[in-house]
Amino acid sequence: MPKLQIDLDIAHASTLPAHLYYSQEEYDREKKALFAASWQLVGHVHLAARPGDYFTFDLLGESLLIARGDDSVLRGFYNVCRHRAGKPATGCGNRKLFRCGYHGWTYRLDGALLVTPEFEGVEDFERADFGLTPVRVEEWFNLIFVNLDGEAPPLRETLGQLPAQAERFDFRNMKFSERRTYDMNCNWKTYVDNYLEGYHVPSIHPGLNREIDYNAYTVEPHAEYVRQWTPIRGSQTGDATPRRYERAAADLTADYFWIFPNWMLNCYPDNVSVNIILPLSPERTLAIFEWYLPEKSLGSETAEKAKAFSDEIQMEDVRICEIVQKNLHSSSYQSGRYSVKQEKGLHAFHQMYRELLPG
Ligand code: FES
Ligand SMILES: [Fe+2]
Repeated sequence: MPKLQIDLDIAHASTLPAHLYYSQEEYDREKKALFAASWQLVGHVHLAARPGDYFTFDLLGESLLIARGDDSVLRGFYNVCRHRAGKPATGCGNRKLFRCGYHGWTYRLDGALLVTPEFEGVEDFERADFGLTPVRVEEWFNLIFVNLDGEAPPLRETLGQLPAQAERFDFRNMKFSERRTYDMNCNWKTYVDNYLEGYHVPSIHPGLNREIDYNAYTVEPHAEYVRQWTPIRGSQTGDATPRRYERAAADLTADYFWIFPNWMLNCYPDNVSVNIILPLSPERTLAIFEWYLPEKSLGSETAEKAKAFSDEIQMEDVRICEIVQKNLHSSSYQSGRYSVKQEKGLHAFHQMYRELLPG
């Protein structure tokens, strides 16, 4: 029988049981206990920088609307019309009002209901009671988060040491470069597990392995997130292999932050990428990747190379995750063991998971 808890001692611990990676029942529990309860990253502030800017986001079946009001306040709503559940907004852009596409109910940027065509004679109806249903929104480091169940502590309190570690990167001054999405045939945890170890780098990512010092790869679990970091090799090592960071200083690092349960911040000195790992069903997951660059490097050859490099790594990860996802169904496999040296990150993730979703 697979164990119901994760042993606190990694040397004795077994990984999460395989059925949690495809069970519909577990997926439904996760939606409530993990995703609705946590602060969920929905986008970068450039999508809603000026009054009237808005964007929509689908979060585990909930359509959300994020908008900046005339008063510059950022607000979040369920993107669900209070009349008969049409959509007040689609896509993204800039608006003075949101007009539902079904019968024309019109809402202000702050969610208040303004216009209800042909509604004369309706009794016991106050427009003030039919504004868009709000959802909690907070910002950190130019990123926008929502919390669906409304009970979570303030965002900052859930980030621990992350701000202190991530804010040394120049992300705030970087500009949006590109967004790519990857529709993957695997459970969201299969993807997160893979992200949380560098163990597979030599076998799965030969290109990346040339760039980083595999032996100096450090995994640092925190209560709320895992930081993985590695020094970046410069050209002072004496060999002639061309590398992307020719004048690497000794303290130059690449930091990969994964924040429980499903988003990542990948920080390099000259680019930052954000990943949102969105479950679509037990065995389908959408990875949203966005790249940010210093303004002067937007469109430059170096930037294009950095994105192509990241895309290559991602395709390698998707391939292995989809293979693993299929094999998790094998009648021969129940659960596995952790490398003490290389899989501390997964072990930390699985403990966080079991704390909220005991067996
Ligand atoms: S559903 Fe929106 S106006 Fe009817
Ligand atoms: Fe990988």
